[in-house]
Amino acid sequence: MKRELINRAIEAREKAYAPYSHFKVGAAVLGEDGNIYTGCNIENASYGMTVCAERVAIFNMVSSGCRKFKALAVVGGGKEDSAPCLACRQVMTEFCESFDTPVYCNGPEDVIFEHTMREICPYPFVSFIPNEDYND
Ligand code: THU
Repeated sequence: MKRELINRAIEAREKAYAPYSHFKVGAAVLGEDGNIYTGCNIENASYGMTVCAERVAIFNMVSSGCRKFKALAVVGGGKEDSAPCLACRQVMTEFCESFDTPVYCNGPEDVIFEHTMREICPYPFVSFIPNEDYND
């Protein structure tokens, strides 16, 4: 599944709209429904309106009716591995299955770095309303 998710993120990266940074990113999440949802970064002339690949993938999942992901993969274009930005980590915190959920980051020469949500979000903001109770 790790390889499959990375491959889907690589595919999704092809769709990236990054005329300003020229840094293309792709992401893929494995939903708890068993489906894979993908996303790419989408930039804007008003730079701050840019949305990262990870959030696009998660929003794609949520808007398709699935609210938890069991794993996330992100693939950037640089020489370093692409760790999710802090804004994305907050959104990931909201929709990950647990703090053991794995996050795969593609590094140079195809090395895949693997971290848990707990490792990359050690002190997250969480709502007082448990997600499990929210079904509207
Ligand atoms: N970007 C992502 O898509 N994901 C990240 O986790 C970090 C950054 C995008 C945003 C922008 O389009 C480009 O990479 C350069 O920052």
